[in-house]
Order: sequence, then C-alpha cells, then structure tokens
Amino acid sequence: MMDILNIENCTISYQGQKAAVDDVSLSIGEKEIVSIVGESGSGKTTLIRAILGILPPGGKVTDGKILFQGKNILELDERSLQKIRGTEIAMIFQDVGASLDPIRIVDSQYRESILVHRKMPKEECRGLEKKMLTKMHLTDPERVLSSYPFELSGGMKQRVGIAMSMTARPKLLLADEPTSALDVTIQAEVVREMKKLREQYQAAIILVTHNMGVASYISDKIGVMCQGKLVEFGKRDDVIFHPKHEYTRSLLAAVPRLEGKRFAK
Ligand SMILES: Nc1ncnc2c1ncn2[C@@H]1O[C@H](COP(=O)(O)OP(=O)(O)O)[C@@H](O)[C@H]1O
Ligand SMILES: [Mg+2]
Repeated sequence: MMDILNIENCTISYQGQKAAVDDVSLSIGEKEIVSIVGESGSGKTTLIRAILGILPPGGKVTDGKILFQGKNILELDERSLQKIRGTEIAMIFQDVGASLDPIRIVDSQYRESILVHRKMPKEECRGLEKKMLTKMHLTDPERVLSSYPFELSGGMKQRVGIAMSMTARPKLLLADEPTSALDVTIQAEVVREMKKLREQYQAAIILVTHNMGVASYISDKIGVMCQGKLVEFGKRDDVIFHPKHEYTRSLLAAVPRLEGKRFAK
C-alpha cells in the first residue's frame, strides 16, 4: 500500500521557544485511520496544522519534510497549498460551531464552501448538501440547512462540519479533537460516523484526541505525543497490548472499562 502522507524528521518551533514538535516522523497509508494522542501542549495541533500549512503566526517548520502523495508540501507556494486545502486535504476543528457564521443559515455557508472549489448551480448545490448531511445521519437535512447555527445542538453542528469537510472528497481528513466539546454519548456517535467515512470516501484520517478509548476504537495506527516528541507510533494492537513507553502505559491504564473490557473493536 502506498503512503499518502510521510512526515520525516519534522521539527516545528514558535519564535523564541523550544521546539513544539521535535523530530517527529510518521507515515499514513491510503485509507488508514491514525490517532494522535497526548496531553495538552504536547504539540498535536501544531503538527497537524503544519500538514495544511496553517501554522499560527510565529510558528515555523525548521527541519524535516512533509510529503503528501510524495510531494513535499513545505516547498509548495501559497497558491498550490490553497488548491490542496479543502479539496485533497480537509480539516475539521474542535469546535465547528465557532467557525460557523452565527448570522447566516447553514445552507448559505455550506454553499459558499462548495463554490470555493467548483462551479455548481444553486439547486445542485443544495442536493449535494442534503446528500452529505444524510450521510452523516442528520435525519432532517432540509431543516438543518435552513437553521442558524444556534438552533443546532453541538453534535449536529459537528456533523455539519464533518459533512462540509467531506464534500470535496478529500484523500486526507485532519480532525483536531472533533468530539471533545461534545458529551460522551454524542462523541461516540460522531466517532462512529467518522469511521464510516473511510469506507464511503476512501479517505485517510488523522484524528487528534486526548481520549485513548476513542483512539483504540477507531484507529489502524496510534501515535502518542509527549512534550513535542512522538514517543510511540505503531499498529493499534501493538500500541495497546505492547506499549513501549511508560507514558503510553499510563494513558492506557486511565481508560475506563466497559462491560469488563477495556478495549473494544
Ligand atoms: N500560536 C502559538 N504561539 C506560540 N506558542 C504556541 C502557539 N500554539 C501553540 N504553542 C505552543 O506549542 C506547544 C504545543 O502546543 P499545541 O500544538 O497546541 O499542543 P496540543 O495541541 O497537543 O495541546 C505548547 O507549548 C504551546 O504553548
Ligand atoms: Mg490542540
């Protein structure tokens, strides 16, 4: 299987600080789901923002390569990066609700996001929006489309966000703690929907989460970050049943048991 993404010896720093991401290497095959787990401040968001070339001001990749389909995205100009963003690589954030415009209905924002990448008549747009919302198991897509963001629950907004980011059928979806603002049962549902995306859209997914239970449920591979270093990276079962690093063991030990089992598939 070909890798869709190879991060090679990547170091990222914010001005005047020690490396936020320190010599990280990892690879993701096509259609693979990889979770990155680690405590707050360990560099997870910095790492996945670098993949899209959207580091906050002051942030810079000082070393290494990020190869997307064999091409080093660090060498691309802004125009080529913009072409990739939202089409080949999409990102969903922790709080999609916050990125939606509160004073416009969902339909208008959704259509705008589609029209950035391709021309399409209004009616066809709406059809596509409805189809995508239905795929995310939003049962009344008409109502969702004509709602303002505040009229939707957190879980619904997150599904809208995932539907929007999957509309262009990206080959790689980056999800930065997409469920952590939701309550636990809704989290589980959204994560289940994300897992289905792989089959429906043949997309690879990088999921950032601080929940080892979620990571174990959804992932083919798991990486663990600690103070900027990727201290563990491997196949799900290897990481869960044979963790190499003490920090990984402590994360695993903290996962609650469900029906006597700690890790369900
Ligand atoms: N915009 C920024 N400016 C300066 N430092 C930052 C910025 N964003 C993150 N950092 C620093 O980089 C490190 C990693 O942060 P981050 O990537 O957000 O970690 P995580 O997503 O794992 O919580 C932290 O020490 C954090 O303080
Ligand atoms: Mg983060």
